[in-house]
Amino acid sequence: MILKIGFGALIITGVAALGLAGFRGQKGEQTHVEWFNDMAHQPKVNPQVRSDFFADGRAERKPVAGTIPIGYNIAGTYYQNDGNNLGTGVGAFANQPDYLNTGRIGEFYGDGIPENLASRGADLVKRGQERYGIYCSHCHGVAAKGNGPVKAFGLMTVADLTSEPMRKQPDGQIFNTITHGKNTMGALGPIVTIEDRWAIVSYLRALQKVAEGKLNVAEKK
Ligand code: HEC
Repeated sequence: MILKIGFGALIITGVAALGLAGFRGQKGEQTHVEWFNDMAHQPKVNPQVRSDFFADGRAERKPVAGTIPIGYNIAGTYYQNDGNNLGTGVGAFANQPDYLNTGRIGEFYGDGIPENLASRGADLVKRGQERYGIYCSHCHGVAAKGNGPVKAFGLMTVADLTSEPMRKQPDGQIFNTITHGKNTMGALGPIVTIEDRWAIVSYLRALQKVAEGKLNVAEKK
């Protein structure tokens, strides 16, 4: 009983004290007492204010030359990815339903490197080699055997991309995996351009042939 009274009193006093201080969000004439500033005051610049930090006195800066808004494609620059675009829906699947952009033909995965890229021949494969080295090899291994350094740190399910099922997978499906990822493999669409994804696919095909003993890299040089 004593405990109950004590507790009730504590609550009443607490509410009274808060009431005097003014609740957050409550409108009042006086400047309210700010117990914690809740990040209300931050060392930042607001839009359209002056800043003496820059010589021209403007706080707002222009984007770096060549900046492309996420999800937009600007002629003559890098082609950006499709649908998974951070949920913006800009440049989504529906807008780019063609094989080049999706790896799909209707509801099926297509096979073959899109013509306008395939015509780049060895250049495309070379580009793919470089990009594969940047974006894939740490997981899948330089020879695509699924034994990149990341595996040693616990990502056990990394796929061997030279296996028979992978060799049989249509190009469009591999393209799609790069774009959207699969299970524990994250989507690389947001960072690898359409062209580069196809380049990586063509380089992967070369790696598969090497693994099969059907392509002697040294001889080709
Ligand atoms: C963070 C590590 C990681 C990176 C980076 C990564 N992958 Fe993967 N990848 C995986 C894992 C893990 C799997 C197995 C996913 C699963 O459980 O099916 C996989 C699976 C795949 C598959 C097989 C999909 C299937 O149908 O089973 C392909 C193809 C593939 N990756 C290609 C690539 C390519 C090409 C790149 C580079 C553009 C890449 N991956 C980058 C981890 C990675």
